[in-house]
Amino acid sequence: MRAPAKINLALAVGGVSPDGYHPVATIYQAVDLCDEVRATPQDSPAIDVTVTYDGRSPSETAQVPLHADNLAVRAAALLRERAGVSGGVSLAIRKAIPVSGGMAGGSADGAAALVACDMVWELATPRPTLLRLAAELGSDVPFALLGGTAMGTGRGELVSPVLASGAYYWVLALAATGLSTPAVYAEYDRLHSGFAPPAPQVAPALMAALRAGDTGALGAAMSNDLQDAAISLRPELAHVLAIGEECGALGGLVSGSGPTTVFLAVDEEHALDIALALNGSGACADVVQALGPVGGARPIGG
Ligand code: C5P
Repeated sequence: MRAPAKINLALAVGGVSPDGYHPVATIYQAVDLCDEVRATPQDSPAIDVTVTYDGRSPSETAQVPLHADNLAVRAAALLRERAGVSGGVSLAIRKAIPVSGGMAGGSADGAAALVACDMVWELATPRPTLLRLAAELGSDVPFALLGGTAMGTGRGELVSPVLASGAYYWVLALAATGLSTPAVYAEYDRLHSGFAPPAPQVAPALMAALRAGDTGALGAAMSNDLQDAAISLRPELAHVLAIGEECGALGGLVSGSGPTTVFLAVDEEHALDIALALNGSGACADVVQALGPVGGARPIGG
């Protein structure tokens, strides 16, 4: 199975709830940067995992865990428990999505593992059940199953498709080291201490721009309430955003909790120009061009 990275075209964040999570209103888009998970059933009850990295290998601290904390392992264990499967599975993950990059790479692995295990264990779990299990695994996992362009509410796990016309050319500027999502949310709380943020809402202008496929209006309407917190923890992100702006990106923002920054280009040629400028600046560790929207977790080659 392969599952896509996400970017947040809008991420509105409310005040922290008693359960420690933040209510959000977000617009996700899946882009054609995908992790792959292959599942091989085994008679022993073990759930094993191996990980290979496509392209640049992350530093040791940024590598994904190879034990029970791995979201793909957690997905297999959860499905097995709920479905009453007795055997184990061997999972082989091939990562292309940056680790701790704010692009839901771990969530993509969780979604791909859910679907892959469902297939090799021949469970035919109904889609709504898979979505519920995905929500138990993490806020962004249901969207990795769904793909496309979607609204996320609750803590991000309640997803519904939204109408988006056309294709969007993105340039992603990757950082050498990741940012922890809880740390960015904690910084958001610190920056908002003393005043409660309003209930999160996505700007109607952004929804209209997506419906019309109006990239200029979309770029102008993109926003991320976690951006200031990510920049506060990683001040150099402001410089990366400024480079994208100088190149005439229609919009640029930190993706999710960062540190990946995303830029919307007019077309493929413009995306290449932005990518070259970012690469040449030395302000980021790597640059990737991506097209969205693409579908959610699906068979490799499917
Ligand atoms: O749901 P997930 O496991 O991806 O969340 C990781 C962490 O990010 C949570 O433990 C929480 O600290 C933070 N988070 C949050 N509000 C959200 C989503 C995530 O505070 N809506």
